[in-house]
Amino acid sequence: MANKSIDKQQFGDFQTPIELAKQVIEVLKRNHKIKHEIIIEPTCGKGAFVFAANDGFENSRILGFDINKKYIDIANSSLNITDSSNNISIQESNFFDTNWEELLSGLNGYILIIGNPPWVTSSDLGTINSKNIPQKSNFQNRKGIDAITGSGNFDISEWMILQHINWLSKRDGAIAFLCKYAVARKVLKHVRKSSEHRFFGHIYPINAKEYFNASVEACLFVLTTNVGNADCEIYESLDSIKPYRTIGERDGFIVSNVKVYGKWKYLRGQDPCYIWRSGIKHDCSKVMELEPYEGKFKNGLNETFSLESDYIFPLLKSSDIGNGRVNSYRKMVLITQKKVGEETLSIKKIAPKTWKYLSNHRDYLSKRKSLIYKNKPEFSVFGIGSYTFKPWKIAISGFYKKLRFNLVSPLNGKIVAFDDTVNFLSFDTEEEAQFIFYLVTSQPSIEFFESMIFWDEKRPITIDILRRLSLKEVSKELGKLDQYIKWIEAQAYTKSSGQLELALAAPKNQT
Ligand SMILES: C[S@@+](CC[C@H](N)C(=O)[O-])C[C@H]1O[C@@H](n2cnc3c(N)ncnc32)[C@H](O)[C@@H]1O
Repeated sequence: MANKSIDKQQFGDFQTPIELAKQVIEVLKRNHKIKHEIIIEPTCGKGAFVFAANDGFENSRILGFDINKKYIDIANSSLNITDSSNNISIQESNFFDTNWEELLSGLNGYILIIGNPPWVTSSDLGTINSKNIPQKSNFQNRKGIDAITGSGNFDISEWMILQHINWLSKRDGAIAFLCKYAVARKVLKHVRKSSEHRFFGHIYPINAKEYFNASVEACLFVLTTNVGNADCEIYESLDSIKPYRTIGERDGFIVSNVKVYGKWKYLRGQDPCYIWRSGIKHDCSKVMELEPYEGKFKNGLNETFSLESDYIFPLLKSSDIGNGRVNSYRKMVLITQKKVGEETLSIKKIAPKTWKYLSNHRDYLSKRKSLIYKNKPEFSVFGIGSYTFKPWKIAISGFYKKLRFNLVSPLNGKIVAFDDTVNFLSFDTEEEAQFIFYLVTSQPSIEFFESMIFWDEKRPITIDILRRLSLKEVSKELGKLDQYIKWIEAQAYTKSSGQLELALAAPKNQT
């Protein structure tokens, strides 16, 4: 039983129900007018796609392959009963050992490569010590596959689809695969990087829970050869006739809705005075995060201490920000520095109990693995600067699946800090924060952000996307440029950095 489940895992085995395979064939006929001459199912399992293609397409020559002999036998016996055509061949074969080049060179005409490749990642295979991996990928060192996929861990299906893309690099054809949505996106990214890309993508979401009992965002991913356009159309479902949005590369960004991006792209730009930041990084929550407890502080090791308040600030985590819980706090955080790299020895003088606490937990802090802590003052933290200590903030969680911006005030007379999955802007006054909040949450800003966000990503709201919006341009769009300039000028009075003067000059030139 245990072996059976390991086999299912290492072969990424999720057999497609025949109804779903038939629906896929209908989509290819209805929406893509595929004119195949040869159909290849490289990991055909029990043959759902072989049979659906044989039923749906006339005069098809179909070649099916799978590593599992039992499945090949099942497929062949079904074939004998239901179909006597010589146009179908189903063979046992390991994808990674097959000489595809030789096989393909013997086939003429338009090729449709179809199926549902294994649903397993290289790190899953590593965990169970499986050899079901591409041999030439130098898997253990990950170098070869890194070069292909650009990442250490990778989906086997991603690797296989990239092979199919190579097969079609010099001939016409189409690829139609069920796969994770994330795999489809990574493949498209790869296709775009190639200067000779010739694929147009189409994505139809499928309900992986219903068909495969798998909790993952999955899709039918269709790639058709089409010189010079690597856009990708997104459909609502397998029943849709037309796409509802198109993903594409615009102005150097991959945008999730090219039409909406086109509408608001003039809001693009950088604001030197309002720069989105990430929250504090300390990599040691057990020691650095504290819970107020009976007038003292309790840490993650369940120890209680009486500490000076100088270095301790309310902390709002991603879950607080994502759920709009910004008027109270459960946790506090020890912030040992005002800026990155600042000396920490002065804590000993200013707050001796805090110093003692840190010294007593030195082991935890010095074990932090990240290289950023190397050669830095003891007890250092990151993601801090003057922006951390401004009283008013606009914060958004990177993890949440909604564009929910929060206006955050000081709590209990102290500035509020965030964890490093929260993105925020900070301000000296409530009035300025309110004005920028109005700009950030306006319809043009929201639509601009939405046009670039991929909601299926683990952390969809990135600082990189937030930083693409020019608040100056939004203020212009909303007829509030005067107010924007007022705030920029106020900042220029209080500070004299060259950057601020630059920012001040830019809007004035354009009034
Ligand atoms: C997700 S299942 C899908 C099967 C079939 N394509 C379908 O749609 O029902 C993946 C299939 O890949 C096969 N497979 C896994 N590793 C393979 C390999 N190295 N070479 C060939 N087939 C493989 C498995 O045996 C399994 O049948």
